[in-house]
Amino acid sequence: MDGNGRWARKRLMPRGVGHKAGVDALVKVVQAAADRGIGYLTVFAFSSENWKRPEEEVSGLMSLLLVALSKHLTRLKADGVRIRIAGDLDTVSPRIRDALRGAEKDTEDNSRLVLTVAFNYGGRWDIVQACRAAMAAGVAPAELDEPTLARFMTMSYAPDPDLFIRTGGEVRLSNFLLWQSAYAEFFFTDCLWPDFDAAELDKAVASFARRERRFGDVGASGQGEGALGGADDDLTCADDGSVAGGR
Ligand code: FPP
Repeated sequence: MDGNGRWARKRLMPRGVGHKAGVDALVKVVQAAADRGIGYLTVFAFSSENWKRPEEEVSGLMSLLLVALSKHLTRLKADGVRIRIAGDLDTVSPRIRDALRGAEKDTEDNSRLVLTVAFNYGGRWDIVQACRAAMAAGVAPAELDEPTLARFMTMSYAPDPDLFIRTGGEVRLSNFLLWQSAYAEFFFTDCLWPDFDAAELDKAVASFARRERRFGDVGASGQGEGALGGADDDLTCADDGSVAGGR
């Protein structure tokens, strides 16, 4: 959910106003995703690196999180949204931890859409904590394979993401869902997060629908090629100009 700060600056307002608008966008996008039958939505709300931001911005984000939960939790719950948290809650303040754990508990009977809020999250942290948990559970090195490690990742309850959307114009992953996104389709947009809405979500989904997912195989368009033929087919260019590699 990148671009809150720039959205505010464009309006000559403090960055916090952008984060507040970001919460409003998030609530609408969750609704739009549920309406479209999307079962899992995972958002990057606060990374393990975001603590480096000015103290005023960090404390503003923490306060905003508490306000957002008290303002929107009842509605989200009524809409069938289950909230789950991915991230290291051991090192956040007890107030934040209790609020996030409370939201999880409060919505645990819902299943229409699972909204995972990545908070104090980093993809590398997730891989390391999974290795530690596997070791603590007594998994021997020879037994450790991909499905086994996946069981210890924080989001083991969710399927791997089909579509990874980044707003705000940057073209990088910034340590989000590194393990889980191995075969995700990527959609990068200049749209700043507070402007992201149902129509923008539809654009991302439409782009996703045009992709050919091969998961390392040759896929339907590669069938019938000779073993050495069609080397250029390893790259596909989508209508939006994005290029997907064959591996
Ligand atoms: C990145 O935009 C956004 C964040 C670091 C926070 C995203 C948070 C929300 C959408 C609100 C919900 C979450 C909480 C924790 C209340 P940026 O600030 O880096 O924007 P910029 O790149 O334009 O500066």
